[in-house]
Amino acid sequence: MNKILILFICVLSCFINSAQSLTLPQLTAQINGKVISQSSPDFNNARFGYNYRYNRVPQIIVQPLDTASVVLALEYAQTNNLLVSVKSGGHSAIAEGVQDLRVVIDVSQMKQISYDPVSNIITTQSGNKWVEVYNYTINQHQVATPGGSCPSVSVGGLTLGGGANDLSTVHGLATDNVVELEVVLANRSVVIANEQTNVDLFWALRGGGHGGFGIVTLFKFRAHPVLPTYYSAWITYAWSDFEDVLTYVNTFSETMPNTVNLYFTAWRSSNATNPSVALSCFFNGPSQLGESHCGSFRNFSGSKRNTYITPVTISVTNASYYETVKNGTDPKARSSYTSGSFLTGIDKKVIKNIKTQLEKSPVTPYTFNTARLNLYWQGGQMLNQARDYNAYVHRTYPWNAVWLVSYTGGEFEEPYRKWIKQTYRKFESFSEGVYQNYPDENNLDNWAEAYYMENYPKLQVVKATYDPNNYFRFAQSIGSPSLSS
Ligand SMILES: Cc1cc2nc3c(=O)[nH]c(=O)nc-3n(C[C@H](O)[C@H](O)[C@H](O)COP(=O)(O)OP(=O)(O)OC[C@H]3O[C@@H](n4cnc5c(N)ncnc54)[C@H](O)[C@@H]3O)c2cc1C
Ligand SMILES: *[C@@H]1O[C@H](CO)[C@@H](O)[C@H](O)[C@H]1NC(C)=O
Ligand SMILES: *[C@@H]1O[C@H](CO)[C@@H](O)[C@H](O)[C@H]1NC(C)=O
Ligand SMILES: *[C@@H]1O[C@H](CO)[C@@H](O)[C@H](O)[C@H]1NC(C)=O
Ligand SMILES: *[C@@H]1O[C@H](CO)[C@@H](O)[C@H](O)[C@H]1NC(C)=O
Ligand SMILES: *[C@@H]1O[C@H](CO)[C@@H](O)[C@H](O)[C@H]1NC(C)=O
Ligand SMILES: *[C@@H]1O[C@H](CO)[C@@H](O)[C@H](O)[C@H]1NC(C)=O
Repeated sequence: MNKILILFICVLSCFINSAQSLTLPQLTAQINGKVISQSSPDFNNARFGYNYRYNRVPQIIVQPLDTASVVLALEYAQTNNLLVSVKSGGHSAIAEGVQDLRVVIDVSQMKQISYDPVSNIITTQSGNKWVEVYNYTINQHQVATPGGSCPSVSVGGLTLGGGANDLSTVHGLATDNVVELEVVLANRSVVIANEQTNVDLFWALRGGGHGGFGIVTLFKFRAHPVLPTYYSAWITYAWSDFEDVLTYVNTFSETMPNTVNLYFTAWRSSNATNPSVALSCFFNGPSQLGESHCGSFRNFSGSKRNTYITPVTISVTNASYYETVKNGTDPKARSSYTSGSFLTGIDKKVIKNIKTQLEKSPVTPYTFNTARLNLYWQGGQMLNQARDYNAYVHRTYPWNAVWLVSYTGGEFEEPYRKWIKQTYRKFESFSEGVYQNYPDENNLDNWAEAYYMENYPKLQVVKATYDPNNYFRFAQSIGSPSLSS
């Protein structure tokens, strides 16, 4: 009887112990990192990300510096009956990392990084921006792994949704180079995921990692040697040559080697009469050979007999890949709408539609307002994996078309939103799948199908295994309803 009583007391006390809530002063005292309350002068800066259209007010923002402090922040949220959202670089097009009334676990200050030349592995915490990764790996060790092409995008979000830059045609997606992850699960245990351990979780996080499986604290990437400098050409053409330029770019892409990467962009700036058009041609090899690959963009045949298309401007750089990323621009304090899809092909009709759609984009008096189409090449090693190699399914079509409006001035929100919606509809029949790193809640009727396609059922199974109570839930987490389901 006594024994049973003692056991009962013990069970009771253990239960009370685990249900006891961690108070804010306890969190603040125990955390290695920072707790930012609504009244803190840092609160506003910390709650805004890339897209200022979202003006969300979380309960509190926690910036841990190590994994144990991530667990502590999660304990604080769970024992106070709060939900969390996870933020790294804050570039989510739908600001998924910051939610009203929640505890934001902001891993952006977790910046430890190292490189082991013996195993050839880069180990980084989730908060490093890609410019910081390359500053370390390229400048100190002459190695890199594919990541982002803009300086401020971070390891966390970019890698978990795929991730590509100029290096990807040769070395694959960022996520394809991940060999191991450290993850804090919903039950606050810290686990490793790799090809041997938690294999299903490892599969799901690479491409489906925004979906609410856990908080990734550490990434290990395969490293690749980089050359001291790379050839890259930035070429602009006359708007009247738009159709000939894009036709040629597409034809060129069909036979170019994996060492060449292309980025095609066309945009209307504010009140400009005509949109602009430009191409970046990157060569991943000795820079003196760049011209023999990209040089043909200096002069090629137009569609009309005996016409030749030549650039308005061409600027060639021969710089380290670190400099190229550092130079990228990603303006802050703008509102935006993003809508992307993979084109199944680029034919006359698609080209004509792109041209007229840009010409129909809203005209505004603000010089920095833009409506833009980006065409990112997704060839080479990015497609050279099975569609179920990991959760990133988009291995079939090489052009990722991303429409983006970026603006200030609330009066332009509605015209831009309408234009983006109309554009999405116009290209729906020429597209298949949407890149999950450009999430969209304005246009997608069924985001789960668009981002994950036939890999979605397996993602749902993995989600149920590792987060059975669906604690990590938000608008587009795995298992959340789509409009058409
Ligand atoms: C200016 C700009 C440039 C870009 N350039 C590129 C590019 O070159 N190549 C490319 O492929 N994409 C690019 N993107 C898209 C980019 O990959 C996504 O926006 C990406 O999700 C951003 O990651 P983040 O950590 O910066 O953003 P966040 O908003 O912090 O995170 C994005 C999503 O990932 C989740 N998340 C973040 N960290 C973690 C974590 N540690 N554990 C669990 N979940 C996490 C967040 O909750 C959120 O849902 C760009 C976007 C912008 C705005
Ligand atoms: C690059 O690293 C150096 C040395 O560690 C540091 O001083 C510098 O601020 C870093 N630059 C960027 C852009 O991160
Ligand atoms: C590129 O720069 C490097 C280093 O400055 C130099 O050695 C090389 O000759 C340059 N190549 C070209 C093609 O300009
Ligand atoms: C473009 O190439 C054609 C054919 O070789 C040539 O006749 C023409 O002069 C070239 N134009 C320029 C600007 O180099
Ligand atoms: C960086 O930007 C400057 C200014 O636009 C340009 O002159 C320079 O060539 C760029 N360098 C690289 C490596 O892109
Ligand atoms: C475009 O906007 C600029 C800056 O506001 C202004 O100076 C210019 O006159 C405008 N041009 C047209 C064509 O409206
Ligand atoms: C936490 O969840 C994982 C995945 O469901 C499970 O394997 C593990 O045993 C759980 N840990 C604890 C302490 O309950």
